Amino acid sequence: MLSPAKAAPEIFLYQHHPRSGLTAFLGRDIMPPYWAYCWAGGNVLARYILDHPENIEGRHVLDIGAGSGIVAIAAAKAGAASVTAIDIAIHAVAVTKLNAEANAVKIEVHHRDGLRGTIPNADLITMGDLFYNEALARRALSFAKTCHTAGIEVWIGDPGRRSLPAEQLRILAEVSVPDFGQSTPSSAAVYVLNVP
Ligand SMILES: C[S@@+](CC[C@H](N)C(=O)[O-])C[C@H]1O[C@@H](n2cnc3c(N)ncnc32)[C@H](O)[C@@H]1O
Repeated sequence: MLSPAKAAPEIFLYQHHPRSGLTAFLGRDIMPPYWAYCWAGGNVLARYILDHPENIEGRHVLDIGAGSGIVAIAAAKAGAASVTAIDIAIHAVAVTKLNAEANAVKIEVHHRDGLRGTIPNADLITMGDLFYNEALARRALSFAKTCHTAGIEVWIGDPGRRSLPAEQLRILAEVSVPDFGQSTPSSAAVYVLNVP
């Protein structure tokens, strides 16, 4: 069932909730997958993007680790010239496509490792909650630096998870948003790389 995203009620998503049927489908011992939730990092990016469309309008946006697609959908709604979403999980790709359709926005969605390969053809990269373990955080930071050096702006949304290299980042905006599994909002930030 479609329901509004808590941090961005302008966006409707297929999400996990007590009556979604996902637990019955997966079995009680399997945690519903990442794409079934909005994470704090994606929430803060989506909120920031929707509140500041002037920073998005006309830009070519690439969302790496799209999950439900919340960030990519926010970028499309805010007036990006094009939006591409990438996720390594095939079901995240499927749900991002469904969610884009439900919100009547056009997003190109790819199933692949978004932290590998050539410099993307984009002028803004978003990474919502992609720093959730050490190994992934190292790869995400390295790819972000490569893209930044090539002239692409990179926005990282994160609630300050342990693997976030905060000392190498600068806060662009701070917003109070819910995290996955939380009912009350707490602080999360949009970061950019702290290098010239
Ligand atoms: C914690 S979820 C965040 C989803 C969404 N951005 C949000 O904030 O709600 C991280 C997502 O990144 C995806 N992911 C992890 N490593 C990836 C990689 N190397 N390339 C593309 N996607 C990746 C996962 O499959 C998952 O959907």
